[in-house]
Amino acid sequence: MDKKVTVIGAGNVGATAAQRLCEKELCDVVLVDIVDGVPQGKALDLMEAAPIEKHDSAVTGANSYELTADSDVVIITAGIPRKPGMSRDDLLKTNAGIMRDVTRNVAKYSPNAKLIIVSNPLDAMCHVAYKESGFPRNRVMGMAGVLDSARFRAFIAMELNVSVENTHAFVLGGHGDTMVPLPRYSSVAGIPITELMSQERIEALVERTRTGGAEIVSLLKTGSAYYAPASAAVEMAESILKDKKKVLPCAVLLEGEYGINNLFIGVPVKLGANGIEQIIEIRLSPEEDAALKKSAAAVQSLVDILE
Ligand code: APR
Repeated sequence: MDKKVTVIGAGNVGATAAQRLCEKELCDVVLVDIVDGVPQGKALDLMEAAPIEKHDSAVTGANSYELTADSDVVIITAGIPRKPGMSRDDLLKTNAGIMRDVTRNVAKYSPNAKLIIVSNPLDAMCHVAYKESGFPRNRVMGMAGVLDSARFRAFIAMELNVSVENTHAFVLGGHGDTMVPLPRYSSVAGIPITELMSQERIEALVERTRTGGAEIVSLLKTGSAYYAPASAAVEMAESILKDKKKVLPCAVLLEGEYGINNLFIGVPVKLGANGIEQIIEIRLSPEEDAALKKSAAAVQSLVDILE
């Protein structure tokens, strides 16, 4: 393949992203993890599925970064889950340390890559990757809005019994309890959902979207969601690799847009061969704007802990 994507972290999200990338035949894939044998084993397993899945993407596993050299896109999923007795701040600091180490290596071997950050807490991890890589802001972005919007879309389709393909949804803000789903900009075949559902039902779907990650954790009990997160990261990578210029909600460094400065937060952007090619500023109602600012304050408090 003429494109190359590295996925750091060969756990649930990383391995699933690798599978989606190669089964869509978008690129060759290098899977990196610190655990010896795991990325190599998963890569070989995916290669052995290739004759059946009918793709010629090469998948390689590694514990170091040499093979990642000159990647077009790097998806970073490395991190540890919260363990019993661990505070959110401890997790934040541990994952920030992992993110620093990973980003340093990624930037050394692939100085022109676009980085898609997936590790949580997402918006804070984007700050770490941005600082450590020294990359311009158009090449560092976080995956959150595509996932949150996909969850909202899935719930809209279930509620109205329509094809998911007809649904469109926008979720802005940080990735967490303070995310800002925008019903006004969410539609079915172009019809705003505010025309199709009662306010009460919309609020119920918005709340389910906000707690979508926790709903999966409470079902799985030993881990968090990975099919939809992997799909979301791969949709972003595809738009970059194919220069599709899709408009997707992504966490990006705002420098005055939406009245927010020097903070990664989810807003609609155009994704193409140059990474973030445009930040699209949509008009928000006073309530939506207040919700976005509240979400920004939550992200800022995490960044403050790291700094
Ligand atoms: N370098 C490379 N890989 C690492 C490092 C490191 N320094 N530290 C940890 N890892 C690897 C782990 O060995 C593990 O295989 O990251 C992988 C994480 O995988 P999982 O524990 O299965 O977690 P996953 O469900 O994939 O989630 C990854 O994405 O959605 C977020 O909240 C989620 O932050 C989490 C991340």
